[in-house]
Amino acid sequence: MTDLVLPSETNPLNNLFGGELLARMDRAASIAARRHSRRIVVTASVNHVAFNRAVPLGSVVTVEAKVSRAFKTSMEIYIDVWMEDRESGARTKANEAIYTFVAVDETGRPVKIPEVTPETELEKSRYDAALRRKQLSLLLAGKIKPNDATELKALFD
Ligand SMILES: CC(C)(COP(=O)(O)OP(=O)(O)OC[C@H]1O[C@@H](n2cnc3c(N)ncnc32)[C@H](O)[C@@H]1OP(=O)(O)O)[C@@H](O)C(=O)NCCC(=O)NCCS
Repeated sequence: MTDLVLPSETNPLNNLFGGELLARMDRAASIAARRHSRRIVVTASVNHVAFNRAVPLGSVVTVEAKVSRAFKTSMEIYIDVWMEDRESGARTKANEAIYTFVAVDETGRPVKIPEVTPETELEKSRYDAALRRKQLSLLLAGKIKPNDATELKALFD
């Protein structure tokens, strides 16, 4: 999704307001999740957001969202945010974030989704790390016990 940063979307320093960026990322991620699953999708969690660089008023911002891994009913969406230089057109990475979406039926019950096959090196590394991030998110949400976070535990063994 490519769009401009307008005055109504900035903070007092004339940079893109964080909440506006979160909303843009949520919209792009929901499109990626919906295209992958062909289902109704809902945001289950925002696992990681890094506001590394301010995005000034007037910037052209591209929010690129990809399904990095699909589990049974949930998907990890990896989002890269780019700013575009006006003169050269070169893109600079501004931010990134990781969201989890769940595919649901018309009554809001989670439904099974197709798998994802990573191809590039970047896609493979994001795919491999996604299970660890899922376990961390579930652990912090109190939905699994520390002993069940096997991928996380393996990091410390
Ligand atoms: C997201 C939602 C559908 C999950 O429902 P649930 O009853 O917890 O369902 P389950 O326990 O079966 O979990 C479904 C999947 O979500 C995953 N999940 C649930 N909470 C999660 C979290 N905090 N982090 C990561 N994954 C999570 C589960 O691991 C499971 O994944 P899997 O099937 O791929 O293994 C439900 O909580 C919901 O509808 N929430 C509101 C969503 C919403 O309104 N979002 C808009 C933003 S306010």
